[in-house]
Order: sequence, then C-alpha cells, then structure tokens
Amino acid sequence: MTYSRLVGTGSYLPARVMTNHEFAARLDTSDAWIRERTGIIQRHIADKSQSSSDLALHAAQRALDAAGVAASTIDLIVVATSTPDYVFPSTACLLQAKLGVKGSAAFDVQAVCSGFVYGLATADSFIRSGQCKRALVVGAEVFSRILDWNDRGTCVLFGDGAGAVVLAADAKPGVHASILRADGSYADILSVPGNVCGGAILGTPFLKMDGQAVFKFAVRVLEESARETLAAARMTLEDVDWLIPHQANVRILEATARRLGLARDRLVVTVDHHGNTSAASVPLALDEFVRAGKIRAGQRVLLQGVGGGFTWGSSLVTL
Ligand code: ACO
Repeated sequence: MTYSRLVGTGSYLPARVMTNHEFAARLDTSDAWIRERTGIIQRHIADKSQSSSDLALHAAQRALDAAGVAASTIDLIVVATSTPDYVFPSTACLLQAKLGVKGSAAFDVQAVCSGFVYGLATADSFIRSGQCKRALVVGAEVFSRILDWNDRGTCVLFGDGAGAVVLAADAKPGVHASILRADGSYADILSVPGNVCGGAILGTPFLKMDGQAVFKFAVRVLEESARETLAAARMTLEDVDWLIPHQANVRILEATARRLGLARDRLVVTVDHHGNTSAASVPLALDEFVRAGKIRAGQRVLLQGVGGGFTWGSSLVTL
C-alpha cells in the first residue's frame, strides 16, 4: 500500500507589517474593536512588485530545503490561490518556471480558504494512486489586492502570505483521511463577484461578505468536518495532537475547539499576527509551529479549511 507523507514544510510572509492602528488612523475603527471581534493584531502586506507566485516561490524553496529534496524531483505542483498572478497560465506553472524546473504536472486549485486542504487531498490521491511520487502543495495569496480598503467590515480581516509542504510516497501514512465538501448555494455570503470581460472588469473586483452568516456557517462545518474526517480515519480527538483550522478569526477557532471539546493548548492560532491569509493560512500556521518545535515528527494534526463557495474540508495527517 502506498501513502503520502509530509516530508517538509515552508512559509513566507512579506516584510511589510500592518497594525490595527494604521486602519484606525484612516477608518472609523479601532485596535480594540478589531482585537475583540477577530483576535487580529497585525497582518503582512505584499509589496506591489510581489505576486502570489513570488510568495509561493519563497515558501516552496523553504519546504524543499526542509525536506532535503531538489525541485527537479517533484512530479506534481499544486498551488491553491484565489489571487492568481494571471487569468492564465496558472500560478502553479509560473511557480514551476521560477523554481527552474519543467516536466511535472502543475495546476491551480480554487477553493478560496479551503484551497490548501483541497490541494493536499488532491496531491495525496495522485500519490496513493501511483501517478506521482513527490508533490509540492502551496497555498499563496495576495488578498490585499481584492480588498476594498474603505470597507472597515472586510479590509481589517485579511493578510498576504504563502505556505507550502512537500508530500512524498511512503509505506506508512502520512495522510490518513481527507474529506472535502462544498455547497454552492451559499456563494453569495462570501465572494468577489467580478471578472475580466472585453478589456474591463465586469461586476466588482472587491471582496463582499456577510460576516455573521460566514461566522455561523464556518463554526458549524468545521465541527462537522472534524468529526467526519476522524470517523473516516477510525480515530477520535484523543488521537489528535493539534488542530489547525483555517485562520479566519480567533472567535471561530475557539468556538470550534469548544464544540469539539478540544483543549485550548492543542489549538493552533496564528491569525493574531497573520490575519486571514485564505489558502495560505493552514500551511503558514503548520510551518510556524513545526519550526518553533511545537509540532514534532510523529504527532498527529487535523488540518481544516473553510471558505468561499462555500467549500470546506479536513485532512488528518501524522507528521
Ligand atoms: N470597526 C468598527 N466597527 C465595525 C467594523 C470595524 N472594523 N466592522 C464592522 N463594524 C461595525 C458594523 O458596521 C456594525 O455597525 P452598526 O451596528 O452600526 O451597523 C457593527 O460593527 C456590528 O457589525 P457586525 O457585522 O454585526 O459585527 P460582528 O460582531 O458580526 O463582527 C466580523 C464582524 C468580525 C466580520 C464577524 O462577523 C466575523 O468575524 N465573521 C466571520 C467573517 C470571517 O472570518 N471572514 C473571513 C473570510 S471567510 C473565511 O475565511 C471562512
């Protein structure tokens, strides 16, 4: 039996840090409001010269270094992003070229904040089926480009960044189980309802959100998805060392942990200093905790995404 195993993690945050005070200086908001409602204190913002593939490149190189494998040995590149460099080619193809390699399969996954978990589950299936042996899965976003910076209800929530993992074929799991779900009837509660048409933008290029509807939906499906994935892996929460839900809002994360009966010290929280980095949030959080020596080899981690679509899903992995 062939499984896939995470053999390296990496991440990248742009140098520019933006605090809540900068919003308070421009908009009718305050550091206290943002902290209390979201738990966010600061986020990183990409320089104008940086695109998602640039952020992805740094994260990918760090993951490859951590895994001790050369980019030329990767036979599948999956990039999860909702802020691609171009309409086409895919950010995954651009990343492949920036890594200086060719020949591997490369494509993007668009599942918004669930994108990394969707990408991981896809790469795991490719490896388990024998179609490839080593995959690079990246979540990379420049959400700062799709925000209305005058909308206090949305612009304070997000940040830019990238995270990556290298997956390799192994006789032992690795990825125990992944469950992916979607419900397109909730498309309207979180969207960027625009596109490029005839040389202009049709619709709106800015993120629109019904914050309370998103909050309720996210807490419900994160709990359901955790239980469903654990059942698929024939495990319980007792078998899990760490929960890494998509880093949307501290209140969503804590409510999920509470509903699951999970102790707060097993919940990974990075949204306070990253903001919500969409598809990048889960691999960024994973890499930060791995590099800090908190998440260690052999530990079991439940990774969870939830985002626009609506999409959601979880992967249970042993590092
Ligand atoms: N500063 C000050 N006041 C604000 C701000 C702000 N930044 N944003 C909104 N408000 C105001 C509103 O205008 C409203 O004012 P009003 O009563 O005069 O109309 C008041 O605060 C209350 O607004 P609500 O939307 O009811 O506030 P709520 O407590 O729901 O908090 C929030 C809003 C933080 C967006 C919350 O709903 C939330 O976190 N939702 C989840 C959204 C999320 O995480 N989205 C990320 C993308 S989705 C994903 O990643 C899964």
